[in-house]
Amino acid sequence: MSGIRPTGFLHLGNYFGALRNYVKMQEEYPCFFMVADLHSLTTHPDTKELKLNVQRVLSENIACGLDPDKVALYCQSHVRETSELYLYLNMMAYKGELEKTTTFKDKVRQHPDNVNAGLLTYPVLQAADIILHRASLVPVGKDQEQHLEMARNFANRFNHRYGDVFPEPQAFNYGSELVKVPSLDGTGKMSKSENQYATIYLSDTDEMIRKKVMKAKTDAGPTEPGTPMPDYIENIFMLMKLVSEADVISKFQEDYDQCRIRYGDLKKQLAEDMVRFITPVREKADAIRNDEKYLKDVMELGAEKAGKSARATMELVRQAIGLNYF
Ligand code: TRP
Repeated sequence: MSGIRPTGFLHLGNYFGALRNYVKMQEEYPCFFMVADLHSLTTHPDTKELKLNVQRVLSENIACGLDPDKVALYCQSHVRETSELYLYLNMMAYKGELEKTTTFKDKVRQHPDNVNAGLLTYPVLQAADIILHRASLVPVGKDQEQHLEMARNFANRFNHRYGDVFPEPQAFNYGSELVKVPSLDGTGKMSKSENQYATIYLSDTDEMIRKKVMKAKTDAGPTEPGTPMPDYIENIFMLMKLVSEADVISKFQEDYDQCRIRYGDLKKQLAEDMVRFITPVREKADAIRNDEKYLKDVMELGAEKAGKSARATMELVRQAIGLNYF
């Protein structure tokens, strides 16, 4: 089970860090992938663009290979049981632990004028999303590890207080290392909201991709063999490893080692390989996004699958708590 916030545009980091894992998991496990529209209300109370954003995120996920027939692909708000479980879990979440959550402290700093209770209990809602399906594997990035630990705590507290209902959810990814997708300015990772010029979005046009890649920082190149690669050049090679052919990469690596590399050519190559990678995804996502009828069917099917799983869990939850009076 995993969730995707419908804020910001999906980018290469989302693809290689998360989406690619989802697509692989769908072949091996029963999966629930959810658009976290309720979570977005904690920071984005203005809902003018919500519908469009939800449609876009669904389209992009399907374009990347998620198959709505194989997985439950649904919207959080379509599964009302989530809100009920959230309420029960709120009785087990302590103010102190919620206040010291890193993401909460960050949000308080960013939006001191909107520190609402929903923001404080964001991790409780996320725990509800996960354990609603009694999920045990949650493919998420490093930034979600604290939320996952809290979900484990809430699940364990529930089990301890009312009897075993939930397995322990844990963060999951294939391979030991999470793939890092560096930003084009050499300062960090690609990001949904910051650094728009240093991030390649799945919706970027061919010209935009070329422009962004050609702007990446380089220098005059090495003059002595054995010169260690500066991190901004290493980043360009790292990005190439994601989208370029192996022999192309080793050619440029050799050029670097022999001090005859031309960074203009390197970036042109990277730009074309990026374009080749992104174009079909963007075109497929656009086609899906413009097909409202198809998207409606996807959401209905997803809500039905997720709802079935949710109702089964909530029967157990109400019984365990003692809310079954007749
Ligand atoms: N908090 C997650 C994020 O910011 C999104 C999310 C919501 C989620 N519910 C989830 C992730 C359940 C995993 C499981 O990206």
